Amino acid sequence: MTEGRFAAIAGTGSALPEAVVPNSHFEALVETTDEWIVDRTGIRARRFAPEGQTTSELAADAATRALDAAGMSPQQVDLLMVATVTPDRPLPAAASFVQARMGMSCPALDINAACAGFSYGTSLATGMIVSGQAETVLVIGAEVLSRKLDFSDRSTCVLFGDGAGAAVMVPSPEPGIIASSLAADGKHANLLTIPAGGTELPAGPEEIAAGGDKIHMSSGKDVFKQAVVAMTDVCRQLLDKAGVQAEDVSLLIPHQANARIIKAVGERLGFGPDRAVLDIQDIGNTSAASIPIALDRAWRGGRIAPGALVLMTSFGAGMAWGATLLRWTAPNPPGVPA
Ligand code: ACO
Repeated sequence: MTEGRFAAIAGTGSALPEAVVPNSHFEALVETTDEWIVDRTGIRARRFAPEGQTTSELAADAATRALDAAGMSPQQVDLLMVATVTPDRPLPAAASFVQARMGMSCPALDINAACAGFSYGTSLATGMIVSGQAETVLVIGAEVLSRKLDFSDRSTCVLFGDGAGAAVMVPSPEPGIIASSLAADGKHANLLTIPAGGTELPAGPEEIAAGGDKIHMSSGKDVFKQAVVAMTDVCRQLLDKAGVQAEDVSLLIPHQANARIIKAVGERLGFGPDRAVLDIQDIGNTSAASIPIALDRAWRGGRIAPGALVLMTSFGAGMAWGATLLRWTAPNPPGVPA
């Protein structure tokens, strides 16, 4: 630890594919309705990447915007982490392709903690900065989940979307990142999984024909219940640890999986719709990208001012979850009055 050295977010960015896919698209594929999807999830549309657009391309676009916002260049980054479950290829890391696209040369790795990937990334980045091992860390959450959807499974295909969000993290004399907490419970690893394509079950023609290389969720209800309990508990513990009251937090940014999960977590923690970000309507669940996209859209939308306390919390496959409490230190982005 270096005395008086903390970590803070200096800027964020996000990138979404252009193509908007409304709920009506799925009515032709599976037995579902726009009404059911809106009512049970809060999702009205999502973005799907066109053929050829990769996770690393979206990641690099989001990262470029984050660096621009922070007034920094890619060459200043000395650690790159990409949180994703949908890398361009199984090998090497998506981070390698992001690095090549952006002309960076620094340590680069992927993090697979599913929807909790950005929580894990910001926590690890904080440790590297506070310990003096890194000066500028780029943490990206990026996904092209549309390539991993089984379009004959109505319980999953309507939920997800593609996109990327990024944060530039730097040393700070005051705590930007105040505290973070990470957790995982591998007992439930089979609840949400892509069964084929790894070393356990290679994706041969039979597995592919049966959709084994796509996302499977054995019980949406179980995921729902665990998400509400885990995110509520981890936030309560984190606020206790930091000695911060929920009412002093300006904005709660939960992982964007389902509007009803967000509402339930918000109610339990005492955050109404005015203080809990709901960003799912037009982009769906973008897994590791959901929190940095929501954070970036909230900041650029004028919902986060310098000095504000922000609480981010995530939950996803693994199961893995976490929370981060931070004080916003970056000035308002261009277009938002100070
Ligand atoms: N359209 C119409 N009906 C559907 C659809 C659909 N798209 N999907 C499921 N149903 C049906 C089910 O088949 C079931 O029918 P049945 O009663 O005839 O068996 C009925 O709706 C109720 O199913 P439930 O799973 O009980 O529905 P629920 O209200 O729980 O909503 C949902 C399902 C939206 C998946 C919800 O459980 C959920 O969001 N869970 C969290 C899952 C999640 O977010 N996973 C993403 C990754 S993990 C994460 O990000 C946290």
